[in-house]
Amino acid sequence: MTNSASVKQLLAATTPMDPVTLQGWVRTRRESKEFSFIELNDGSCLANIQIIIDANRPGYDLVKNIHTGASLRIIGALAESPGKGQQWEIQAHRLELLGAAPEDFPLQKKRHTDEFLRTIAHLRPRTNKYGAMARIRSGLSWAIHRFFNERGFHWIHTPIITGSDCEGAGEMFKVTTLDLANIPVKNGKVDYEQDFFGKEANLTVSGQLSVETYCMSLGKVYTFGPTFRSENSNTSRHMAEFWMIEPEMAFADLDDDMQLGEDMVKYLVRYALEECSEDLDLFARFVDKNLMATLENIISHEFIRLPYTEAIRVLQQSGQSFEYKPQWGHDLQSEHERFLTEQHFKQPVIVYDYPRDIKAFYMRMNDDQKTVAAMDILVPAIGEIIGGSQREERHDMLKQRINDLGFDETDYWWYLDTRKYGSVPHAGFGLGFERLLMLITGVSNIRDVIPFPRTPKHLEF
Ligand code: 4AD
Ligand code: MG
Repeated sequence: MTNSASVKQLLAATTPMDPVTLQGWVRTRRESKEFSFIELNDGSCLANIQIIIDANRPGYDLVKNIHTGASLRIIGALAESPGKGQQWEIQAHRLELLGAAPEDFPLQKKRHTDEFLRTIAHLRPRTNKYGAMARIRSGLSWAIHRFFNERGFHWIHTPIITGSDCEGAGEMFKVTTLDLANIPVKNGKVDYEQDFFGKEANLTVSGQLSVETYCMSLGKVYTFGPTFRSENSNTSRHMAEFWMIEPEMAFADLDDDMQLGEDMVKYLVRYALEECSEDLDLFARFVDKNLMATLENIISHEFIRLPYTEAIRVLQQSGQSFEYKPQWGHDLQSEHERFLTEQHFKQPVIVYDYPRDIKAFYMRMNDDQKTVAAMDILVPAIGEIIGGSQREERHDMLKQRINDLGFDETDYWWYLDTRKYGSVPHAGFGLGFERLLMLITGVSNIRDVIPFPRTPKHLEF
């Protein structure tokens, strides 16, 4: 590989340099009588670097055939730019065309809609916006690991293929090597004994149950990986494949859980403001004019903490006409969540102590026997960004709950074992990584914060 400098390094230079080698993709080319100007981007940062090629350089004819999208290697001098708007430019000595791009390259100068760009998801990272998104996504992934590392959490790699349904909601993709045109049947049912694992297998909907087992030995742990849900909801906040961050803490209760969730969201917003400012600025200018105010508001206030029962009362007394009437015992709809966080409190809200019957089996029963120690963190424009709970650590209570819900206790033998041997109070949550990215960039459709979105009836690329 040629020892070349990145555009980011060159733009941060403090002295002129000659020669330098750089490589990247052409964003635009302009011609005058005596020169050509090329704006080159290499993905190292949002900004392009300007390249000037003198018409009397050997091989100048080649330059005329360089169009937007082509890839180049340039050897030249980094020099102070006499032009306005940039400190440095490259005065080219030599230019190599690595890959031409014909004039039908779809990303010409005009601004394209997000809908159109979704149809060319393989090329959209070549635009400013999607390049910026990819760098922010990468930066925040790193920040998540840094957050946990600073607090003594260990990263556990939980499995992608599982034999259990963590959320008990049955929204799972099957994993099989059976011949679908010739499925083996035994006693009127699919004979999974003949399948790869000798039993039913699925893609994981959450790493929680697995990570809990490591929580019971390492104390503070987290998973960060892809999760899969076959829920058929075509909304701007759901995908069939998304990434989730799931911390789990031993010797912790619901208050500790809420605090960790709040600290984490604030830490990540601060990180983005400080470390991704150039890219974030693009979103503040072109995507959401209120973005900076929203982010400042998140980091400068304590999140509101509101019991579910209170939340229902606030909604019922709001005088709003909701599509779904708020009613104790029913799950909060996204219209309810958004009313609470956007209109009523105008800041993030943590709703806790939800009715037992609308939450998962593993959540800890409260003394009222009606609610569980669950919490959801709601944020403006999105609604739920975090869902978590204190876990039921009492062996008999957990077993009872599994049976009451009609689950097969033997499927959970290993999970129940953790409550049999040295059980401790513990709590955790799941943060949807794409929803976090929506919050931080102001992007309103989840399909635009992940490189290749998977949604019902869409599996291109
Ligand atoms: O509330 P959920 O379903 O919680 C769990 O899976 C727990 N096992 C987590 C835990 O306690 N360890 O999902 C957690 C978060 C949601 O708040 C949301 O941000 C995100 O995951 N999420 C989705 N994001 C995109 N597309 C979907 N279909 C999502 N479903 C959940
Ligand atoms: Mg949830």
